[in-house]
Amino acid sequence: MELDYHPELRDLTIRRPQLKLLEDVPLPDWVVDNWEMVKNFQAKPDDLLIATYPKSGTTWTQEIVDLINQNGDGKMCKQAPVYERIPFLEFFMDKYPPGIELIEKMASPRVIKTHLPIQLVPKSFWEQDCKTLVVARNAKDCLVSHFHYQRMAQLLPEPGTWSEFFQKFMDGQMSWGSWYDHVKGWWEAKNKHRILFLFYEDIKENRRREILKLAEFMEKVLEEDVIEKIVHLSSFEVMKDNPMTNYTTVPIGVMDQNISRFMRKGEVGDWKNHFTVAQNEDFDEHYERQMGHSSLKFRNVL
Ligand code: A3P
Repeated sequence: MELDYHPELRDLTIRRPQLKLLEDVPLPDWVVDNWEMVKNFQAKPDDLLIATYPKSGTTWTQEIVDLINQNGDGKMCKQAPVYERIPFLEFFMDKYPPGIELIEKMASPRVIKTHLPIQLVPKSFWEQDCKTLVVARNAKDCLVSHFHYQRMAQLLPEPGTWSEFFQKFMDGQMSWGSWYDHVKGWWEAKNKHRILFLFYEDIKENRRREILKLAEFMEKVLEEDVIEKIVHLSSFEVMKDNPMTNYTTVPIGVMDQNISRFMRKGEVGDWKNHFTVAQNEDFDEHYERQMGHSSLKFRNVL
C-alpha cells in the first residue's frame, strides 16, 4: 500500500479512542473533546451537508457529489483524497488539520461531511437553511461493514468479537450512537429542512437514476456524456483502485488495510455471510421493536 500523499505521516500511529457521551450519544473522545468548535461552526447558506451513519456509503456519495460539482472531470477529483475535498466536520486527529480548518479554507459552495445525528448538527446549518443530503444503508449490512472497518481503523474503539459487536450495535453502544435513532432522526426531519434522503440500496440498484436525483437537488444540469462519466467513475471497481477514494493515502498505523480494505465488498446482503440463524432472529425481533412504528422502510433487510 503506497502512501505518496503525505509522506511525512507515513509512520504515524494513533491510539484507539474511548467513547464519551454527549447528550446521551456515544462519540469518539476526539469529537467530544473538541465539541465547542463543532458546536460553534458557522455554516454558509450555500453549504451542502452530507450526513450519514458511518459505513452507509458516505465516501461513495462524496465522490458522486464532487464529480457532479466538477462536471464529471475525474482529473479534478484526483487532486486530493476525498476526505480533503469534502472534509469531515467533527474530525480531529493529531498531525492532521481538523476538518473545520479545511472547511474554512474552502471556496464556496462548500460540501461538508458529518456523521452527527440530527440533534447534534451545529445550529448554524439550520439558521442558514442549508441543504442536506442524507444517505442511509440497511442496518444489517451497515453492522457488517462497521465491524470490518473497526477492526482495521484505529480511529475507533476496538470492535471486540463478532458477537460482542453484534450486541453493541443493537444496544446503540457505537460511535455516533444508535443506528436506529440516527436514521429515524434524519427521516423525521426531512420535511422540516431541505433534505434529500437516499438509500445505499437504491444507488446500488440504479446509480444513474440516483445521480440524476442528486444533481437535481444540487440544481445542476448534466450533459449526457457527463452523466456517463460520473456513472463510470463512481463504480465500486474504479473507486477501489483510485487512491483518492480508497483511503490508501492514510498511514497503516491509522487504517491497516491488510486487516480489511476500506473498499471492502460494496454489496447489498453481505450480512447473510455473517449472521447466524439465531442472530438473525434476535436482530429481526429487536429491529421490529425499534423500527416497526416508523414509516422509514429499508429493502433487503429480511
Ligand atoms: P462494505 O464494507 O460493505 O464494502 P462509508 O464511506 O460510509 O464508510 O461506507 C463504506 C462502505 O461503502 C463500504 O462497504 C464500501 O465498500 C462501500 N462503498 C464505497 N464506495 C462504493 C461504491 N462505489 N459502490 C458500492 N459500495 C461502495
